[in-house]
Amino acid sequence: MTNVAPQSKPQKTVTLTDNETGKTYQFPVLDGSVGPRVIDIRKLYAETGMFTFDPGFTSTAACESGLTYIDGDKGVLLHRGYSIKELALKSDFIEVCHLLLYGDLPDAQQRKDFQNNITHHTMVHEQMQFFFRGFRRDSHPMAVMVGVVGALSAFYHDSLDIDDPKQREIAAHRLIAKVPTIAAMVYKYSIGQPFMYPRNDLSFAENFLYMTFAVPCEPYKINPILARAMDRIFILHADHEQNASTSTVRLAGSSRANPFACVASGIASLWGPAHGGANEAVLQMLNQIGDKSRVPEFIKRSKDKNDSFRLMGFGHRVYKNYDPRAEIMRDTCYEVLNELGIKDPLLELAMELEKAALADEYFIEKKLYPNVDFYSGIILKAMGFPTNLFTVLFAVARTVGWISHWNEMIQEPTQKIGRPRQLYTGPVERPYVSLEKR
Ligand code: SDX
Repeated sequence: MTNVAPQSKPQKTVTLTDNETGKTYQFPVLDGSVGPRVIDIRKLYAETGMFTFDPGFTSTAACESGLTYIDGDKGVLLHRGYSIKELALKSDFIEVCHLLLYGDLPDAQQRKDFQNNITHHTMVHEQMQFFFRGFRRDSHPMAVMVGVVGALSAFYHDSLDIDDPKQREIAAHRLIAKVPTIAAMVYKYSIGQPFMYPRNDLSFAENFLYMTFAVPCEPYKINPILARAMDRIFILHADHEQNASTSTVRLAGSSRANPFACVASGIASLWGPAHGGANEAVLQMLNQIGDKSRVPEFIKRSKDKNDSFRLMGFGHRVYKNYDPRAEIMRDTCYEVLNELGIKDPLLELAMELEKAALADEYFIEKKLYPNVDFYSGIILKAMGFPTNLFTVLFAVARTVGWISHWNEMIQEPTQKIGRPRQLYTGPVERPYVSLEKR
């Protein structure tokens, strides 16, 4: 996709007038294939001596991308043009990985080759197990993930040349394949069970469940319902445009750091409760609320500016409508709990909380809807994952999104190091004051 307007058509522009100097400036307007147009301000500082000011990037397009499109008002999420609903219901995670990485759904031979490549990269170097011993068993799993995934850079010297397309591809395959293995190792280490080696006869989701829940002492039977739900949860978390962790990976990659280190920086950013850590925070919030009778009290608290309490799993920078992933997650939640015969009071409580929030003036006015994290924790808990592993599962899925964005960024012809400026409001220059005079 190129944004350069065809020569025959006049360039669309906007005019900026500096009322202080009376000067006017023209800036090009660029069209994407769909979604908001952008004002190309790359020459703004050179021409006006001014910066834009947009903390939190609420109105900033940081890059051009063809991976994922979100329409927050309509609740639309497309990966390379395919809707998340169609992908979640008709595709599987390995296909979605191929779609994000290579730009289209694989044909039969491509799927077979890609699956084979990923499968044969699932083992990690045998020495990686020694990193775990340095961590306390009760470390937060995300702390271990940041450390061990970052350590991959120390092993794969044959895929660190980011200018070599083959090495970029192998690094991408290694990350997609090894992050789940490391995630399962993180869990096993925390409960004192032996690590389980991956199995090449299993699908991506089946293999992850096997490495996480199997033990060497007895055969492990894969529950197809859980495997399907796990695969769908991975699809729903695979990518999401320029979210905080993906932007972190892109910025880290812009300095030409290696992809393993960049993905480790994405894991660190995802950990925050305002981002990927929200799924863990939702379960903690539901347990804190405890009973339906207390929903009004907590809805009230979430609206009180003096109260730090937030409805975790609610609200989104982009979605001002239902997060399409939350709807699919809720349906999957029902499916899994019914299949497992589990009646989780937390699900009833979550439904009650959602109903109350969606009927509340404050939430309606601020367009706060459940996001992808609101229901995921309930399913993951039903599947046997501990709460503090939820964000690790998010990282397992998002690795393909991170590395696909990294790949797209590194191949940008105009790629340069990201280096934002600031509005400086600190002290202007002043003379040093000696100690005796302070
Ligand atoms: C993810 O970016 C992505 O795409 C992320 C993600 C992905 O797939 O990568 O979708 C995954 O991170 C989902 C979001 C998970 N986080 C949470 O569920 C945490 C709770 N949500 C909020 O912290 C918040 O909604 C954010 C962080 C998600 C969005 O923050 P914004 O866009 O900066 O919006 P905001 O915090 O400024 O909120 C706007 C208003 C504020 O009121 P005012 O200051 O304008 O009066 O809405 C209020 C907020 O106080 N508000 C909430 C609320 N979320 C926002 N009030 C109560 N409960 C909430 N959950």
